[in-house]
Amino acid sequence: MSIVAISAPRQRQGELGQFLTPAPVAAFMASLFGPLPDLVRLLDAGAGAGALTEAFVSRLCEKKDAVHAIEATLFELDPFIQDALSETMRNCQRVCAQAGIRFTFAIHSTDFIREMSARLAHDLFVTPPPTFDAAIANPPYRKINVDSTERCNLRYAGIETSNLYTGFISLIQRLLEPGGQLVGITPRSFCNGPYFRNFREDFLDNLEVHRLHVFESRDAAFRDDSVLQENVIFHAVRGRKQPGAVVISSSSGENGDVVAEKLIPFTEIVHPHDPEKFIHIPSASGHAAAKKTMDALHSSLGSLGLSVSTGRVVDFRLKSALRREPEKDTVPLVYPCHFNGGTVQWPKPEGRKPNAILNNAETRPWLVRSGVYLLTKRFTSKEERRRLVACIFDPAAVQAEWLGFENHLNYFHSNGHGLDRSLAAGLFAFLNSTVVDQYFRRFSGHTQVNATDLRKLAYPDRETLQAMGAEMRTLDLSQDELDELVEKFLHARR
Ligand SMILES: C[S@@+](CC[C@H](N)C(=O)[O-])C[C@H]1O[C@@H](n2cnc3c(N)ncnc32)[C@H](O)[C@@H]1O
Repeated sequence: MSIVAISAPRQRQGELGQFLTPAPVAAFMASLFGPLPDLVRLLDAGAGAGALTEAFVSRLCEKKDAVHAIEATLFELDPFIQDALSETMRNCQRVCAQAGIRFTFAIHSTDFIREMSARLAHDLFVTPPPTFDAAIANPPYRKINVDSTERCNLRYAGIETSNLYTGFISLIQRLLEPGGQLVGITPRSFCNGPYFRNFREDFLDNLEVHRLHVFESRDAAFRDDSVLQENVIFHAVRGRKQPGAVVISSSSGENGDVVAEKLIPFTEIVHPHDPEKFIHIPSASGHAAAKKTMDALHSSLGSLGLSVSTGRVVDFRLKSALRREPEKDTVPLVYPCHFNGGTVQWPKPEGRKPNAILNNAETRPWLVRSGVYLLTKRFTSKEERRRLVACIFDPAAVQAEWLGFENHLNYFHSNGHGLDRSLAAGLFAFLNSTVVDQYFRRFSGHTQVNATDLRKLAYPDRETLQAMGAEMRTLDLSQDELDELVEKFLHARR
């Protein structure tokens, strides 16, 4: 039977965050557990059709180690998948019986978040929560609004988080015995997203991270394609002392492919003085070299006298002021679709986006004075080679006194004004370089580039950036030419 046939109808799949784990991925996840007690109390929250528990059971039956009994507790809200889940559990019972392992299971067709938040809140009238030795999870993924039922329920257990998946992991972590193990697959967004700071803190304070695994290809992600999320698989142990080193591994995501792995000091995964507690995953070989190069840079945007902001024109809020084409009393409105190689091509009358915005009392707070600006896209498409795509807005090419930068781009400025031309060109080379792209990929697993990410980067000093910029006679360099230029200047400074 196909996965889709046994799961919720398509529109409910999104609501439930239902993306089932392919068997090879489930088997890999099950292989990550360390030694387990004789009797394993296993939690599978958001169990779907039971692929993860099935993989866990198969692994233990094959391994024939000390485990004599497994007590599985499964939570699954979707009634359409319950029969498949029960069938998988009966199958687990048969496989275990053959291997001499006692297998019992309890399926709860209830809301894991509601039930466990209440029990973890230690409400007098509610039974205390169960505890587990192991948990395996591919939790549902969906944003949850501040006033949603899920958020209110989680708050009851002292958890404040903005996605279902982080809510699930926070609850699961609290249900583990000290030394209990969790293997999970989730979007990678929690590793650096600004909204996940609390979650990272809670996660790193209570779980010792032993392994982080990523798929090299974005196509390997099996979640909602439109989000272009990368996934991470982690093995973590309930405890408060992070190990000296973490296993970082990667695979292409295809069946039976080779897993490359290495041991990286924990201090390189979470930098000790990073208040944001970004989780870096240096999986590809280029990532290590990029870190070395970036570590030698000591300027911050602040020390360069620069800032980066998200474009202030939110188009749907200023709908009546937008114009398809420039007309009297309008100024240029720049979207990422105006990026054209290294420069801005404006206007684009044939494009789908408006090219201009009225310049009046209502719109003025959202406009900036014209000048040389360095722009970056906030979202890149799957086809784009780099995560960071920068271009230069040159007032010599687009004449105007004021400009609107739309919200899907970030702009670098000096106190709200434009930049020195050679500095902008140097930043252009630096941000478009492979070295920055590789460094960026260490901590960012999605196609979104937040202004916070750009604020956190280390930059070359002003003289180096200006010298780099001055040497660029054209912005139309190939990637190799650009990398050569950046390497030359960065190495000269070491
Ligand atoms: C990403 S799927 C993963 C399913 C399965 N663990 C797997 O790996 O194939 C998440 C599952 O969680 C279920 N789910 C969503 N919200 C839930 C909730 N509040 N309580 C229990 N299950 C929930 C969905 O119906 C879905 O089957």
